[in-house]
Amino acid sequence: MEQSTTVTGSVMMPSQANPNGNVFGGEIMKMMDSVAYACSVRYAHSNVVTARVDELEFHKPIFIGDLVTCTAKVVFVGHSSMEVFVNVEVQDLEREDNPERALTAYFTMVALDRNGRPHAVRPLDVVTEEDRAAFEAGRRRYEAHKAAKREAAAAALAKKNGATAKATATPAKK
Ligand SMILES: CC(C)(COP(=O)(O)OP(=O)(O)OC[C@H]1O[C@@H](n2cnc3c(N)ncnc32)[C@H](O)[C@@H]1OP(=O)(O)O)[C@@H](O)C(=O)NCCC(=O)NCCS
Repeated sequence: MEQSTTVTGSVMMPSQANPNGNVFGGEIMKMMDSVAYACSVRYAHSNVVTARVDELEFHKPIFIGDLVTCTAKVVFVGHSSMEVFVNVEVQDLEREDNPERALTAYFTMVALDRNGRPHAVRPLDVVTEEDRAAFEAGRRRYEAHKAAKREAAAAALAKKNGATAKATATPAKK
């Protein structure tokens, strides 16, 4: 398997579920975060933190006794950030059905150096057409996030400048 992909698996236990046997969403989200972490550490060869989760979707319920397999793959790399696609599949072991897609999400992980500051990671090797399409979709989410951050910063600055101008304005003569 390629270096940018990491897989983990686990059988769901009663402590992870509600009284009806449905596994809590948070349990699976924790597994997803964990596999995204392992995948991005392998890629960056350094510590990483989760900065963002996009498009988290629950497609199918998961029950006690199901085998849950999480597959994480780096699909886009910016400068210090990596977008990791996490696909969760579920299989009822007693019925031996084929695994089915249960959850999906895109995790943005940021590589940190020994001082806890973001550091550059190597560019992603995009090989197949599928990789290229996933990379371009990742780039669009990355650029949309950057644009939203710039807009929020500009709006905050404009608000601050407006408040300062109001406070320093000469009071009108009576
Ligand atoms: C993620 C973190 C290290 C970014 O620090 P920062 O000072 O904002 O760093 P920068 O602005 O230089 O951004 C670094 C990279 O992170 C990306 N990034 C930062 N915040 C982001 C967000 N909310 N969503 C997506 N990407 C983000 C930037 O786009 C940038 O990517 P690039 O280098 O590929 O261009 C910092 O916000 C942090 O520590 N957050 C808490 C992380 C954490 O504790 N996670 C565990 C969850 S409890």
